[in-house]
Amino acid sequence: MFDLHGRTALVTGAGQGVGAGIAELLAAQGALVAVNDLDAARADATVKHIRDAGHQARALVFDVTDPESVADAVRSFAHDAAPVDILVNNAGNAGAGAFRPRPFRETEPHEWRRFTEVNLFGVMNCAKAVLDGMADRRHGRIITIASGSGVVGQAIGVSLYAAAKGGAIAFMRHLAMETAADGITANTIALGMIDPAASGRVADHTRELAKRIPVGRIGLPDDAGALCAYLASDQAAWITGQTLHLNGGSYTS
Ligand SMILES: NC(=O)c1ccc[n+]([C@@H]2O[C@H](COP(=O)([O-])OP(=O)(O)OC[C@H]3O[C@@H](n4cnc5c(N)ncnc54)[C@H](O)[C@@H]3O)[C@@H](O)[C@H]2O)c1
Repeated sequence: MFDLHGRTALVTGAGQGVGAGIAELLAAQGALVAVNDLDAARADATVKHIRDAGHQARALVFDVTDPESVADAVRSFAHDAAPVDILVNNAGNAGAGAFRPRPFRETEPHEWRRFTEVNLFGVMNCAKAVLDGMADRRHGRIITIASGSGVVGQAIGVSLYAAAKGGAIAFMRHLAMETAADGITANTIALGMIDPAASGRVADHTRELAKRIPVGRIGLPDDAGALCAYLASDQAAWITGQTLHLNGGSYTS
């Protein structure tokens, strides 16, 4: 697909679902992948899967919401293995509020904070930890997995999640402007519905939503992985500051 040999990728929240799919696909293109998750057992499972397929990966357990843990982990990974060339900000908390419709007026400030901490501050913490090294090496790729809900109104109950994802989209757009001259690209994937079986969740209403997707199916983690492989590649040097909608045609603008 795209040659990522000699590159190192950090994929956050890669212990399952979309992140695991992205990590596996980047590793299959030749990248050494740092598999991050909060949950060590999940991270180890993805690493095993990648290694069993004959590719390279190491687990890197930290919480993306804790800036010191993120910085320490990125520093120690650079020391023990290699500096991060490709950052995929995938860790996110869709949470019950996103999939079990719950109007904003029923939510509390601590919930607003938690959505923002994971889906927006998590992106900032990880970007901050890798940017100096990327700028020094005059090369870097930062990819953030957001959601179509960050751009367009969707189901009732996703306002907290959508606000945080929308913030991440705006952050990435501006980060791209600041880092382009350093050889760093920053792009966002506004992801549509991914198969809940593949992401470990089961929700009947997602099957109903799939009927509204023009290509006729829910997305797979590999769909996100393939776009990440392109955005991470040398061939994608001229694409930055973009929000790419990956959703089977369910939203275009
Ligand atoms: N699944 C979908 O349909 C869908 C649609 C649009 C966008 N997205 C986005 O794609 C990304 C992945 O979604 P998913 O469905 O695979 O999620 P998931 O909940 O299945 O997996 C997320 C992983 O991230 C880890 N994680 C959560 N918080 C973390 C933290 N603070 N630090 C480190 N790791 C953490 C979890 O332990 C889990 O293994 C998310 O950003 C989500 O918002 C998903």
